[in-house]
Amino acid sequence: MYESYFDLREPAFSLNPDPRFLWPSETHEEGFSALYYGVVRRKGFLLLTGGIGAGKTTLLRAVLAKVPEETDTALVMNTADASGLDLMKLIAAELGLRGPFDSKVDYIIALNSHLLERLHAGINTVLVIDEAQNLDLATLEEVRLLSNLETDSEKLLQIVLTGQPELREKLADPKLRQLRQRIAIEHHLEPLGPSELIPYLSHRIGIAGGQYDEIFGAGCDSVFFAYSQGCPRLISLLADRVLLAAYSKQVRPIPVAMVEKKAKEMLEAQGRGPDESGPGTSEN
Ligand SMILES: Nc1ncnc2c1ncn2[C@@H]1O[C@H](COP(=O)(O)OP(=O)(O)OP(=O)(O)O)[C@@H](O)[C@H]1O
Ligand SMILES: [Mg+2]
Repeated sequence: MYESYFDLREPAFSLNPDPRFLWPSETHEEGFSALYYGVVRRKGFLLLTGGIGAGKTTLLRAVLAKVPEETDTALVMNTADASGLDLMKLIAAELGLRGPFDSKVDYIIALNSHLLERLHAGINTVLVIDEAQNLDLATLEEVRLLSNLETDSEKLLQIVLTGQPELREKLADPKLRQLRQRIAIEHHLEPLGPSELIPYLSHRIGIAGGQYDEIFGAGCDSVFFAYSQGCPRLISLLADRVLLAAYSKQVRPIPVAMVEKKAKEMLEAQGRGPDESGPGTSEN
């Protein structure tokens, strides 16, 4: 809507997990390398955690877009109420396994022979379970059983578990000790630091074809940081609202006061006072 006013080819602050927009902040770059290495080297179990809106899904998509061609990927996203057999069904559907299967054992047998066939064809298979904090302990334990699928020398299935910090708490449960011990590589996405705000905003604006300095006036970055505490989704959400407000008033570059005003309005609308700002509240 406001794109042409700011010389943008497309919206710079859409909330989609589009990997084209991913800025390699320190934590995102480390996470990328860890996951990429873990998948390509067939490390088995990998874990990616981070707060709400930290960039987990976007990072996963960026990794999956870069892995070698000889990789099959199964991305299971909607884990909300999936337990046991449901999860198996979701995984089987993603990998293109044909049923019907009468029991979990049938699924495992079919999965095992599918994975062996792929291995012989030189193909690595990756299963990504996003939002894994939704899985209950029993289902997580079943995911561990999938990680037992291996030959004498290789893991047949690389499993990437992603989720909010509650996932770490779940994995700390003594019942999941065996799973915990199998995690070969893990990374926690931290919020961005204050000095990363301008690069983040500039990168997204640049991908959309524009220039940071022509859109935001000096000092705006510190307001973005105070509002978001470095949570990427909250930064993008505020930026989008600010751009819209500036467009309707036909103001560019955008002055600090305008960013402050929007940030304050948004904090109030979310029921967060300026003192409680932080990534805890997510508007999606
Ligand atoms: N490093 C980054 N560079 C550019 N954009 C980013 C970065 N990290 C996150 N974002 C953007 O922030 C928004 C939220 O990211 P994403 O949906 O990946 O977060 P999430 O951690 O999966 O959130 P949730 O906990 O709700 O699942 C997306 O629009 C994403 O593109
Ligand atoms: Mg996500």
